Amino acid sequence: MKVNQSLMAALTENMLIVNMLLSLFFLPGALTVYCGVYNPALRITTPNNMQALIGSCLQIPCTYNTENPTYDRGKTIYGVWMKGGVILLSSPSFVIFNSSGSINTYSLNITGNLKEKNCTTLFPNLTTSHTDIYFFRVENVVYRASACADPLQITVKDSPWSPSINLPSDLKEHQSVTVTCSAFTPCPQSPPELTWNLQQDSLRQTEKNTDGTFTTKIQETITLSDTHDGYNIRCSARYPVIGGNKTAETKVTLSVSYAPRNTSASISPSGLVSAGSWVELSCSSRAKPPPSFTWFRNNKDGATNVSVGQVYKFNSTEEEKFYCVATNDLGQQKSSVILVDIKDDQSSEFQILNILKILGIVLLCTSIIIFEWWFRFSKKPKKEPEEPTYVNNVMVTKES
Ligand SMILES: *[C@@H]1O[C@H](CO)[C@@H](O)[C@H](O)[C@H]1NC(C)=O
Ligand SMILES: *[C@@H]1O[C@H](CO)[C@@H](O)[C@H](O)[C@H]1NC(C)=O
Ligand SMILES: *[C@@H]1O[C@H](CO)[C@@H](O)[C@H](O)[C@H]1NC(C)=O
Ligand SMILES: *[C@@H]1O[C@H](CO)[C@@H](O)[C@H](O)[C@H]1NC(C)=O
Ligand SMILES: *[C@@H]1O[C@H](CO)[C@@H](O)[C@H](O)[C@H]1NC(C)=O
Ligand SMILES: *[C@@H]1O[C@H](CO)[C@@H](O)[C@H](O)[C@H]1NC(C)=O
Ligand SMILES: *[C@@H]1O[C@H](CO)[C@@H](O)[C@H](O)[C@H]1NC(C)=O
Ligand SMILES: *[C@@H]1O[C@H](CO)[C@@H](O)[C@H](O)[C@H]1NC(C)=O
Repeated sequence: MKVNQSLMAALTENMLIVNMLLSLFFLPGALTVYCGVYNPALRITTPNNMQALIGSCLQIPCTYNTENPTYDRGKTIYGVWMKGGVILLSSPSFVIFNSSGSINTYSLNITGNLKEKNCTTLFPNLTTSHTDIYFFRVENVVYRASACADPLQITVKDSPWSPSINLPSDLKEHQSVTVTCSAFTPCPQSPPELTWNLQQDSLRQTEKNTDGTFTTKIQETITLSDTHDGYNIRCSARYPVIGGNKTAETKVTLSVSYAPRNTSASISPSGLVSAGSWVELSCSSRAKPPPSFTWFRNNKDGATNVSVGQVYKFNSTEEEKFYCVATNDLGQQKSSVILVDIKDDQSSEFQILNILKILGIVLLCTSIIIFEWWFRFSKKPKKEPEEPTYVNNVMVTKES
């Protein structure tokens, strides 16, 4: 058993030998991570790729696992982070952190409990020079192993990530939907501030994802109506970084289906139409998806379906009433009734007759008045006393 153990130790140690050789010939603190022909003596669980923002922090979720019998849970365990190096190639990795406190180039902090195999690490205040591959290593009594098969790529960016807006697809009016705006949160210690053009006091929450990374989100439940169709939801994430904030915005345009609205019928030509001429009725409505139209004629017995389509053109013969119905998947709506009013030719003849009658009466009245006057004038001299007539300067009075 002891032989076996020392063999295992030798296997995990072969790397250290190389390391020592490298230390002799190259820079101090350089290690070469070999994975080679052996099963890796140490495995860690972290995301393979992590992104971070300049001037912000990065929390690396990490747990490790080893079945190696030389690993002694009871003894002091050191966690080591190495930067650089490529697997299977003998380019060196540099030790940047040793939880013993001997090395800490980048002010790292293993916040996880190493005894519980939790190697969660906080990387504060990143810069672009931190973009690299990192390896984790455990040193415990004789057990010394690097997680050579689990490199961690860290990419440090200058621009923040646009938040994502999530809502169900296939939106319909009257539906109650929960809209969420969520932002990637590499540094849960200073999560992004989220704001949007929906309700302002939406509660911000930073939640842990299954892989140990974090997401910050705000959400709101809205009841959809036709007015939401075409509405732009804008959400912005403001990441606090050393010396300021970095902001990114996302926009989503809502597409909401709704039943027909503002359905109305119009007639052309408007006003009275002469019998035997063409009349065009047109129906309009606001609906999503676009509606289909059906025309109905109102009779004494009810309504008859007369035409399908937005426009109904026909030869008018008599006074009739019509309405249209707009229909889509979500419902239908009736327009108000429209009257096709025919010019009544008989009635116009009647009117002319009436005018003639009135004219006749007026003429009659005038003739009567004129006659009356003439009659009076012709009668007047008889009523006045007769002037005396003179015959040879002798007044002769007429005897009556
Ligand atoms: C880490 O620190 C311990 C304690 O000082 C030391 O024994 C070990 O060699 C160091 N490991 C590395 C890789 O620097
Ligand atoms: C490391 O993190 C722990 C817990 O978050 C904290 O108590 C400790 O002060 C930190 N150490 C350093 C050196 O920042
Ligand atoms: C590891 O430690 C961190 C604290 O730094 C904690 O948040 C996390 O839940 C721990 N992970 C596991 C798997 O216990
Ligand atoms: C963050 O890192 C930059 C570059 O390394 C340094 O100039 C700055 O002082 C650091 N800030 C803090 C608060 O650690
Ligand atoms: C950063 O944003 C916060 C709000 O999240 C604000 O109070 C602060 O003034 C901003 N700082 C700068 C430097 O713009
Ligand atoms: C459409 O109908 C709504 C009521 O359903 C009304 O408030 C609105 O003013 C109408 N719009 C037009 C352009 O007629
Ligand atoms: C309309 O119908 C009447 C009778 O059916 C016909 O005499 C007339 O020519 C038609 N008008 C047109 C424009 O077709
Ligand atoms: C109206 O009639 C057409 C064909 O005559 C038919 O396809 C359509 O379904 C009818 N519409 C209604 C609402 O009755």
